[in-house]
Amino acid sequence: VNPFAVPDLRARRSATWAEYGPDVLPMWAAEMDVVLAEPIRAALAEMVARSDTGYAHPGRLGEAFACFAAARWGWTVEPAHTMLVPDVMRGIAEALRVLTPDGAAVVVDSPAYPPFFHWIPDSGRRCVTVPHADLGRLERAFADGAAAYLLCNPHDPTGTVRTRAELEAIAELATRYDVQVVVDEIHAPLVYDGAHVPFATLDSPAARRAVVLASASKAWNLAGLEAALLVAGPGAWPVVRRIPEEVRYGAGLPGVLASEAAWLHGVPWLDAVLAGLDARRRLLADLLAAEVPAVRYTPPAATYLAWLDFRGVPGLGDDPAAVLLARGRVALSAGPTFGAEGRGFAGLNLGTSERTLRAGVRRIALGVGPE
Ligand SMILES: Cc1ncc(COP(=O)(O)O)c(C=O)c1O
Repeated sequence: VNPFAVPDLRARRSATWAEYGPDVLPMWAAEMDVVLAEPIRAALAEMVARSDTGYAHPGRLGEAFACFAAARWGWTVEPAHTMLVPDVMRGIAEALRVLTPDGAAVVVDSPAYPPFFHWIPDSGRRCVTVPHADLGRLERAFADGAAAYLLCNPHDPTGTVRTRAELEAIAELATRYDVQVVVDEIHAPLVYDGAHVPFATLDSPAARRAVVLASASKAWNLAGLEAALLVAGPGAWPVVRRIPEEVRYGAGLPGVLASEAAWLHGVPWLDAVLAGLDARRRLLADLLAAEVPAVRYTPPAATYLAWLDFRGVPGLGDDPAAVLLARGRVALSAGPTFGAEGRGFAGLNLGTSERTLRAGVRRIALGVGPE
């Protein structure tokens, strides 16, 4: 079965497909053009058959994630130290509220997933940005009194995956400067060579008090169903458990049931999707080289997000996505919304069929114009 063979994408009501008119090819939001995994379809169909549409209850979601995390990464998760949250961003905001004081500085890498810049201030904390993977600048931010570091690994939007040595260096700095680490590992199931190191598995005080946000939403395309899991290290749990119980009622039962099915029974589907994405991330390099050689692109080590550097293309300015939408009728993610380091970049979603990817690159070439 080819998970990318979706019969009619234009009929979809999700954000990707509903935002623009029929003349635009949407390749922006972090959703995939895939057919749902069969175990997830079955879980959702059974839920509807039972008219089981009340409030979410976590049930054995923590156990399901623990099974997946142990098998995939050798990470032993304590289900009693997990908490159902509506989504990753809400989990991050709630964790920061209980773990850091009002007005505290929270460090994020730039470029960063744009909602970080909304949710951190919304939780009453300040964003301090450092260039992605710049350990020297990270240390300076820690030394300047940061209370927390929001580490995104694998990294959105660049698709880089931190090595064990890099993570150990981060953990060492966090321990030395007493910085709380909150880790967004939403893209972890989408690492191509399986080399993801869960931060919580490091042998370090900072790792033992880390809070990790995990979710099936990116890897199994469940973002609209609303469920994510907060996983607290033993040192963080006594504080994290103070997150109000009301928060979990923002989660959706479809999200809980679908995530449970994904983690327990969705691995064959996930690996089929990864094989397709792996081919697509390489194909994109060939297509760009042939059709828009001035665009710079390094295939991501994880995720279906391609981070395209248009700075060498004349006439596209700080926000190439705006120009490409107007001229090429292709919708990419606007680089500057990812922070200052996103100027001149745009994000393209590879989570689609080869045919759509080819069509997207043709539209990009059209938007760029003759080189
Ligand atoms: C790094 C990162 N964090 C969080 C999210 C959003 O997750 P959620 O919808 O669970 O808040 C995304 C979605 O693309 C993401 O890329």
